Amino acid sequence: MNIQVSGQLFLLSTQNTSYGMEIYKDKLLECYWGARLTRPEDIPHGDQLPVEGGHYEEEDKKPNVLQSYPPSGGYFFDENCLKITYADGCRDTNLYYDSFRIEREADKETLVVTLKEVVYPLRVHLYYRVYAGLDVLDRWAEIEWQGDEPIQIEKAGSACCYPPVGRGWRLTHMSGRWAGEYRLERAPLTGGKVVMETRGGESGPYSCPWFALDRGAGEESGGVWAGSLQWSGNWKIAVELNRTEQVNVTLGINDFDFGWLLSKGETFKTPAASLVYSDGGFGGASRAFHEYQAEYLCPQPKAGQKRPVMFNSWEVFEFDIDVEQQMKLAELAASIGTELFVMDDGWFGARDNDRAGLGDWFPSPKKFPNGLHPLIEKVNSLGMDFGIWVEPEMVNRDSDLYRTHPDWVLSCPGKPKTEKRNQLVLNFAREDVKEFAWDFLNKLLSENNIAYLKWDMNRYLCEASWPEVPKERQREVWTRYVYNVWDLFERIEREFPHVLLENCSSGGCRMDLAMSARSDMVNTSDNSDTLDNLKIFEGYTQLFLPKTSGRPVTISPNGVNGRSLPLGYRMDFAMMQTMIIGNNLFKCSEEELAFMREKVALYKEIREVVHNGTLYRLVSAYEHPYAAYEFVAPSREEAVVFVFGQSIQFRRSVHRLYLPGLQPHTLYSVDGGAPVSGLGLCQAGIDVALMADMQSRILRIRKTEA
Ligand code: GLA
Repeated sequence: MNIQVSGQLFLLSTQNTSYGMEIYKDKLLECYWGARLTRPEDIPHGDQLPVEGGHYEEEDKKPNVLQSYPPSGGYFFDENCLKITYADGCRDTNLYYDSFRIEREADKETLVVTLKEVVYPLRVHLYYRVYAGLDVLDRWAEIEWQGDEPIQIEKAGSACCYPPVGRGWRLTHMSGRWAGEYRLERAPLTGGKVVMETRGGESGPYSCPWFALDRGAGEESGGVWAGSLQWSGNWKIAVELNRTEQVNVTLGINDFDFGWLLSKGETFKTPAASLVYSDGGFGGASRAFHEYQAEYLCPQPKAGQKRPVMFNSWEVFEFDIDVEQQMKLAELAASIGTELFVMDDGWFGARDNDRAGLGDWFPSPKKFPNGLHPLIEKVNSLGMDFGIWVEPEMVNRDSDLYRTHPDWVLSCPGKPKTEKRNQLVLNFAREDVKEFAWDFLNKLLSENNIAYLKWDMNRYLCEASWPEVPKERQREVWTRYVYNVWDLFERIEREFPHVLLENCSSGGCRMDLAMSARSDMVNTSDNSDTLDNLKIFEGYTQLFLPKTSGRPVTISPNGVNGRSLPLGYRMDFAMMQTMIIGNNLFKCSEEELAFMREKVALYKEIREVVHNGTLYRLVSAYEHPYAAYEFVAPSREEAVVFVFGQSIQFRRSVHRLYLPGLQPHTLYSVDGGAPVSGLGLCQAGIDVALMADMQSRILRIRKTEA
């Protein structure tokens, strides 16, 4: 990691990549993003940079293409990063280079370049941060206003970045919906603009704040330029191939219904955009994001610790729970090796179905007449930790909370309120609403021995009015809502550092790098079908760590698409994440319980490799009738390979699997077989036979002697 400055040139380098800028004709331009360079002078700069062609030649041609932070203003029509309305009604902003400084810390270095408005007392501080040992560059902006009259910020992007000039690009991104999150989409980029975004107040599920651009890369080879926005609300990533044959990518909070009033002396800080370049294909780019999260972003030290095997009865019993039943389930769960027993929805207030009780955070007197302690004590006496479900941002109309505070929900005064899943959204932008949530969470976690909190959020935001604040502040609601949710996640992590925090939103509808920084686990989907989940896994792991995901092994046929799959197949898939079991243990035979016990025991043997190892997606479920994934231990002395048949139509139709990541000259055995070198495993590969549909195999590769 280092930051070099030479004349007007800046070069920021990570382990394997570099990022270069130039101050050119008073503008800060992004000149280079790619493999590591050693000299700032080597980046394309000065007259080598693309300029807009025209039929006239200005005397003083200011470059507009490649601006680091293009504002809305002047002779510029591409996607911009900044739009401001000044008190006098002017809506044009023109930014020029002002100064720079470098902040050096042991584990990171930050370049801060300040731009200033040509007339107004506005400054934009652009941050570029690189980290020791990591291949990620973080960028964000701080907008500072020193004028007497406040300004209205209408758009505040985080960054604009540029892969090398030219055509032939392919864009990969994710689309999704409830029960079908993180699905990969890939298409050639043509002239024009592709916009990925969300508008429902969450970072998903219709898309995920991530993109990747390549010109013919594969899973393990070729250049990939990727980025992600650390924002948990409405976001927008626009990828544009403009008339100069230059691709620009802007990432930021969505300007859809965005607004922020900035007064004298105030600063607005945008969320960070994290950028990655890899010449190791999509797998290489994923691993750069994974390392960044494992070593820096995710709550520490939990990020490196093993995740417990969990049990959660939601999909079997839904709201139909009580203390006796949960205790009996806990006994059975403990008997198969569960380490954490999570009680889901239905434990509080009058929550017998999804029409009532949400917001009343006290144990249901009917189901838990003596409170939560008897169940928690029972769970603990069985050697398991206890976890619990909450949904702090929501309220049912039929609840004491709504009857007491009907004004706390997001709604337009005098207009009908839209309910989804019979619930309304609390206006979390309000400090009093946030403090109400903190009070009940604090009490719940302080008074009970809780080791795991599942924070759910089961609908999107709409009718986002905020009558209590002046008109010019109304649109801040979307942004302040996110800040306050983050604040509570951070407080829980700070005040209850032993608690594992699950980020759930009807499955995986709110997952982004900012949530990665503030939670430990994600419910990736409400869909428990393994075939669908193979694809969800491939999308999710483009950006996120496999171990932060989990999906219960539960009823079959599953409730989302009615497909039945073998129990072993479903449990093998669960081993690639944090294992969660959610079967109806009351109905399992002794043989089934013994089978699960065996699988859980195997999982415990391999989870260190899966959780802290390096992921290689060997064969994609999108492209083949089977899928295969490899996890290599940090020591590279051990690996685990998972193979899942999807629709094997001809005998032995799995091709040889080539296993990267091992030490070339070390000998390994595959499932105890004859020694093979790491080089052999990688170059000559291994044969894996799957004889029937929906078969799965787990292969253990371990260092051995000759
Ligand atoms: C959402 C979650 C589920 C479960 C239910 C409870 O759908 O994704 O896992 O917690 O809510 O109501």
